[in-house]
Amino acid sequence: MQVDISYRGEMTISLERDSSSSPIWQPFTQMKTAPTPLKVIRGKGSWLELEDRRQILDCISSWWVTIHGHSHPVLAEALYEQAQKLEHVIFAGFTHEPAQKLAEKLITHTPDSLTRIFFSDNGSTAVEVALKMAFQYWLNLGETNRTSFIGFEGGYHGDTLGAMSAGRSSLWWEPFAPLMFAGDVVPFPGTFDGDEEVESKEAQSLEKLESLLKHGKGYAGIFIEPLVQGSAGMRMCRPEFLRAIAQLARQFNVLLIYDEVMTGFGRTGELFASVKSGTEPDILCLSKGLSGGCLPIAVTMASEDIYQAFWRDESEKAFYHGHSYTGNPLACAVSVASLELLEQNPNAYQGMEKLHRKYLNQWLRNHPKLERIRTCGTIAAMDVKTESVSGYFNDIAPVLKAQFLEAGFLLRPLGNTLYLMPPYCISPDELESIYRVIRQVLDTL
Ligand SMILES: Cc1ncc(COP(=O)(O)O)c(C=O)c1O
Repeated sequence: MQVDISYRGEMTISLERDSSSSPIWQPFTQMKTAPTPLKVIRGKGSWLELEDRRQILDCISSWWVTIHGHSHPVLAEALYEQAQKLEHVIFAGFTHEPAQKLAEKLITHTPDSLTRIFFSDNGSTAVEVALKMAFQYWLNLGETNRTSFIGFEGGYHGDTLGAMSAGRSSLWWEPFAPLMFAGDVVPFPGTFDGDEEVESKEAQSLEKLESLLKHGKGYAGIFIEPLVQGSAGMRMCRPEFLRAIAQLARQFNVLLIYDEVMTGFGRTGELFASVKSGTEPDILCLSKGLSGGCLPIAVTMASEDIYQAFWRDESEKAFYHGHSYTGNPLACAVSVASLELLEQNPNAYQGMEKLHRKYLNQWLRNHPKLERIRTCGTIAAMDVKTESVSGYFNDIAPVLKAQFLEAGFLLRPLGNTLYLMPPYCISPDELESIYRVIRQVLDTL
């Protein structure tokens, strides 16, 4: 079925809409109104090839995971080799070389505060593990009142119940409010190029945080996406802000929990946002880029202090959590290979911000339809000015997305926020072509 979508009655795009014979129910999708999913037959580097042979430039690393691009030969080889040796084994009472190698590598590259590694399968479960670990840490120390967490407005930590509670301010979660556990939320001082109010926004946020820590009771931890809030619309904060939060967490003896599911593995221009900001969390959640987008895997890293609170003679003090696929050898082997690629070529993620800024200046900086331009490492973002309220449900998103797709670009605006998060293998010419098409599309608005 062919359906037209229009923006303020001025622009109309025709889309193929499913009428719907497929049994597949897609994530984060209103199946009734969404266009028919496009069938991808292969991916190579920054490119996807569709069934009808159209080539699409993947400007967002397919939900932020394929950091080295699609079908990387080194990752494919690591997967193939491991598949011939050991595809899986129960991870309680058994271990294997890929898991051990990966653990060693992660400990080398993350802040010194983190000495222990707990495996799981995706970003949301890495967050669930962090929540349960933090809660039981205090319990094992005899502090039974530490039942609540502090998060930041707009924070997104995944879509399982605990992760929703940690990112409680998201509009998606309204229907589930009665199921979520209590917590408090502090404003996030999102900033951008030329922001003159950044210091006052940070001060307000820190004031609220300090007041909660002083007067609120029973916090187990503070949860934050360091440097960049992803799903909230690529909202960026300064490293100074993280350092102030870390200081408050120490002062009030509350655990600092970093969700680097999106920011990890080079996204912010350094391997980790924690490293870039010079801060040391007590718990760190990682997933997405960990396996270079090949297989689902996640880890929750913890400080020695936390680990020691579980290291007891009493079996009830153990951490009772785990999944069938915990520490899957294929996923671990491919993650080791992915980290080795990052080690061999740090310029791939360290050099991209300079290119973003060059093309932003050349193509978009003074565009009348844009505001709040911002960059952090491999991420560039900007807000499109519209008459509707800014945010995820702004009705310009599907129109822009359809226009970009028609031109051969996979860009997936978060409401009226346009962002680029390309694979690190993208060439300067390919990157520039994204800026050029954004300019062309904005000129038609
Ligand atoms: C910061 C952050 N945390 C957690 C998650 C959840 O990860 P997953 O979708 O793998 O469950 C996401 C996903 O986008 C994320 O961006």
